Amino acid sequence: MRVFVTGASGHIASALIPELLAAGHQVVGLARSDAAAATVAARGAEVRRGDATEPDSFLDAVDAADGVIHLAYDHSFRDMAAAAAADLRTMRAVGDRLAGTGKPLVTTTGTLMLALAANGKLGFEHDVLPGGPRIDTENAVVAMADDGVRSSAIRLAPLVHSDLDAHGFGPTMIRIAREKGVAAYIGDGANRWPAVHTRDAARLYRLALESAPAGTRLHAVEDEGVPVRTIAETIGRRLGVPTASITPEQAGDHFGFLAPLLQLDNPTSSEATRKLLGWEPQYPKLIEDLEAEHYFQAA
Ligand SMILES: NC(=O)c1ccc[n+]([C@@H]2O[C@H](COP(=O)([O-])OP(=O)(O)OC[C@H]3O[C@@H](n4cnc5c(N)ncnc54)[C@H](OP(=O)(O)O)[C@@H]3O)[C@@H](O)[C@H]2O)c1
Repeated sequence: MRVFVTGASGHIASALIPELLAAGHQVVGLARSDAAAATVAARGAEVRRGDATEPDSFLDAVDAADGVIHLAYDHSFRDMAAAAAADLRTMRAVGDRLAGTGKPLVTTTGTLMLALAANGKLGFEHDVLPGGPRIDTENAVVAMADDGVRSSAIRLAPLVHSDLDAHGFGPTMIRIAREKGVAAYIGDGANRWPAVHTRDAARLYRLALESAPAGTRLHAVEDEGVPVRTIAETIGRRLGVPTASITPEQAGDHFGFLAPLLQLDNPTSSEATRKLLGWEPQYPKLIEDLEAEHYFQAA
């Protein structure tokens, strides 16, 4: 397949592009700057210049593709509602172009949305949320199945980890622990976060592209839920700093934008995804990966 990939210069795409190429696909990657274009080319993909928030800048590349994988997202946290709204507009524009073609469109959301709606409940692929930032995009893309698009939405675990992960939540937690001299967790730290290795997530995107039925929700999750306290203890030991509990009141100062998220309890199943696509994660789980050298050299 000729596959158009947005976010092609980002973290997940660093594993996805090689995964697609190794499976015999051609990849065209969106890039909005010279630096991104150089990264995409170095990964072996054809470069398409354009801006993910301005669909007119790349919709002809969508027309020319046999399938689309959408990874681009504004992670600046300047205006989270505006970022989600732009993402929805982009997906609607792409969906309009793909309507009636039966071509695959794979978009990206996150499992944390499930905990924001029902904290502590084990999340399943069949859980559908009524609406909200990012959820609106997920629901819109899934609904494109009714318009002749083979659409699917991958809910990524918040911790997508590997030697390729330079700026995700894991490196952010490590940086904060190093700066503050303490690896903190909030309250008793028993709340759980799911995780997946970047390369396993990349394989799931490829499988979804190749064979997910129209209108499918998928979970890119290997660890169903690792207690945040266990993550903090591992980071503290690896950095040689103490691990300590902080109160929810102290969390804002300590963790900044991460504070509310790090209090979520987000156990998430991926059983249905594994069964549907024969996806079995093969790479190290979160704690094994945190024990490896790469996170503490890079941080
Ligand atoms: N990694 C994780 O831990 C994680 C967890 C849960 C969900 N997710 C979701 O997974 C998706 C991919 O994540 P990632 O970690 O690969 O992201 P990332 O490393 O932050 O990369 C973001 C990508 O989006 C591109 N981008 C952003 N705004 C753009 C625009 N206006 N026009 C063109 N390109 C634009 C960036 O291009 P530049 O290189 O030009 O900046 C970059 O290629 C996102 O939807 C993210 O929210 C990731």
